[in-house]
Amino acid sequence: ARVYVRQMGAPIVVKADGLAAGKGVVVAQTVDEALDAITSMLEDKTFGEAGARVVMEEFLEGEEASVLAFTDGETIKAMIPSQDHKCIYDGDKGPNTGGMGTYAPAPVVTPEVMERVQKEVLDPMIAGMKNEGKPYVGCLYAGLMITKNGPKVIEFNCRFGDPETQVVLPLLESDLLTVMQATTNGNLGDVEVKFSDKNACCVIMASEGYPLSYEKGFEITIPYGVLPNVYVAGAKVYKQSLLTNGGRVLGVTAIGDTLPEAIEKSYGMVSEIHFDNAFYRRDIGARAMKAWEEK
Ligand code: GLY
Repeated sequence: ARVYVRQMGAPIVVKADGLAAGKGVVVAQTVDEALDAITSMLEDKTFGEAGARVVMEEFLEGEEASVLAFTDGETIKAMIPSQDHKCIYDGDKGPNTGGMGTYAPAPVVTPEVMERVQKEVLDPMIAGMKNEGKPYVGCLYAGLMITKNGPKVIEFNCRFGDPETQVVLPLLESDLLTVMQATTNGNLGDVEVKFSDKNACCVIMASEGYPLSYEKGFEITIPYGVLPNVYVAGAKVYKQSLLTNGGRVLGVTAIGDTLPEAIEKSYGMVSEIHFDNAFYRRDIGARAMKAWEEK
């Protein structure tokens, strides 16, 4: 590992190969930092067995985007690209979370980039898994970095993304059940996966203190008109009241003809929902808005 790091130079990414609660990644800016990470994982066993094997990855610079795709193991059809906001605070500051808000489509994934994602990421992935005798059927989540050299894969997940799904599925015009049946029946090639040309934004309302410690059990009030747009995650019903019961509590999603409209509508709804200790980012979609304004 040390020889490889010295050969590749910095910046470079050193990862514990096992599960380390999101903490097993060191983005080393210098060769010395990378060597320290290797010592800490392989010799000092900072992450226990999770760090018994390390993975070295190219350092990637750019904007992140998520592309979910339906696949029947042979054909893979991408959904519209979205962008999550993983850090807890505005301006992408603070610790990582499960996702504080999303918008779709993400303009950073231009039609040209999307074509490359299909040809260079999705198609080879599905063909590779089939050739290895492990065809994958269902929803594949590609976490991408859009670099100046094109799209690069950060991770794959075997599931829908949260809160990506909250902005992607409301824009699906094709019937979801038909598409899902086609993935399991192996005839996805015959089915259209069509999206509307509208925009969606989802703002996550969390409990103050998340992703560290936070209190639960506060009553949530959601106006009747807003209710259909709210996806409930960390909440529970107790004696006919809805109470907070987790870190990320609600996903508030709006659709608009334009991205600014979708963002404004979702923040408008957020302002009508109340619970003690509510916390949310105020800048969901800000990066895309900047690109939008510069257009
Ligand atoms: N939003 C990130 C994920 O679902 O993994």
